[in-house]
Amino acid sequence: MLRLDTRFLPDFPEALKAHAPLLEEARRSLLAKRKTPGSMLGFLDLPEDTETLREIRRYREANPWVEDFVLIGIGGSALGPKALEAAFNESGVRFHYVDHVEPEPVIKLLRALDPRKTLVNVVSKSGTTAETLAGLLIFLDWLKGALGEAWRRHLVVTTDPEAGPLRALAAREGLRAFAIPKEVGGRFSVLSPVGLLPLAFAGADLEALLMGARKANETALAPVEESLPLKTALLLHLHRHLPVHVFMVYSERLKYLPQWFVQLHDESLGKRDKEGNRVGTTALPALGPQDQHAQVQLFREGPLDKLLALVVPESPLEDLRIPPAEGLEAASYLFGKTLFGLLRAEAEATYQALAEAGQRVYALYLSQVSPYAVGWLLQHLVWQTAFLGELWGVNAFDQPGVELGKRLTRAFLEAWK
Ligand code: PA5
Repeated sequence: MLRLDTRFLPDFPEALKAHAPLLEEARRSLLAKRKTPGSMLGFLDLPEDTETLREIRRYREANPWVEDFVLIGIGGSALGPKALEAAFNESGVRFHYVDHVEPEPVIKLLRALDPRKTLVNVVSKSGTTAETLAGLLIFLDWLKGALGEAWRRHLVVTTDPEAGPLRALAAREGLRAFAIPKEVGGRFSVLSPVGLLPLAFAGADLEALLMGARKANETALAPVEESLPLKTALLLHLHRHLPVHVFMVYSERLKYLPQWFVQLHDESLGKRDKEGNRVGTTALPALGPQDQHAQVQLFREGPLDKLLALVVPESPLEDLRIPPAEGLEAASYLFGKTLFGLLRAEAEATYQALAEAGQRVYALYLSQVSPYAVGWLLQHLVWQTAFLGELWGVNAFDQPGVELGKRLTRAFLEAWK
């Protein structure tokens, strides 16, 4: 269950009424593109794809020997799986992310792994990303050197259904390959095999995750006053003059979720609009309670230039009582309370303190950090982003601003040889 709380934004219900026609139009214009090839609205259909789920399950069952899972990918090909696996790894399989190109951690990883127990999953929609190809080449060489002809069983590909060098490699070598649907872009792909395959090895409840995402689809299409993603999109739209959007999550298990959200928000919405104006707000990741001791000072007394979203679980799956101890009377207010009680009190206190400081703040309450609620939250945020693209007049599904950097990287490497 996901619930929006706007108690410190008393003007919001009126604003929602006043903006209902604008929101209706944004949704209509987004959905009108659904059948247009290249519109990249395939994220909408991912929660319904039970056939892919079955395939992934069969693959997982056929490979019980895996003890270490190495995911090579970057951006949308790594942030989603990393966020979900950190929250829901029940299997004991160890996960490693080669989502960087710093040599030392890669060398350390290669030294620590047993190739016979390692599955390498290379993930890239385009199949052309430099960081990912570099990682693949290194691991390919390592697997071949250690396992000879058996290497093929240790490499699984997740890429475009037809195009790109990874699809070609898989076909040439007879590798197992999963497809990221054509109409699904990198940062919108967490519920495709990009996220589902690693999560199957993590032993997460994939049915519940997708069921939650289906619930988000339902609420996205509901009447405006009940449509959660339209409402949060409106909150961001009304505060677009505030340059910073803080996304603060009160869950250690969801500690990588803010990074996933930052990519989704910033890469989708930080753009030139049709008139060439620069558009966008900067998402800032924050984690509770740690950032109460790092960033909240700034949020309280620094510039009033932020819209803050707090993501707060309402109940724990399990809790731990805080025992009393003689000689530690300074902590007596904690005796007999629970860790979750403390977490919840801190979240509520920060929420109130930020509002009292004059910051614009709302909360998204998650019933629990469960696959169902988190699946709902992820798909909710994807919808929010797609709606904002319409409201801000930008294409939320491309990233033209990163191309020059890629071309220059290649030019430098060629010049340095
Ligand atoms: O959201 C996006 O499309 C990008 O951030 C990609 O995920 C990232 O650039 C990696 O691309 P690819 O999956 O093609 O390797």
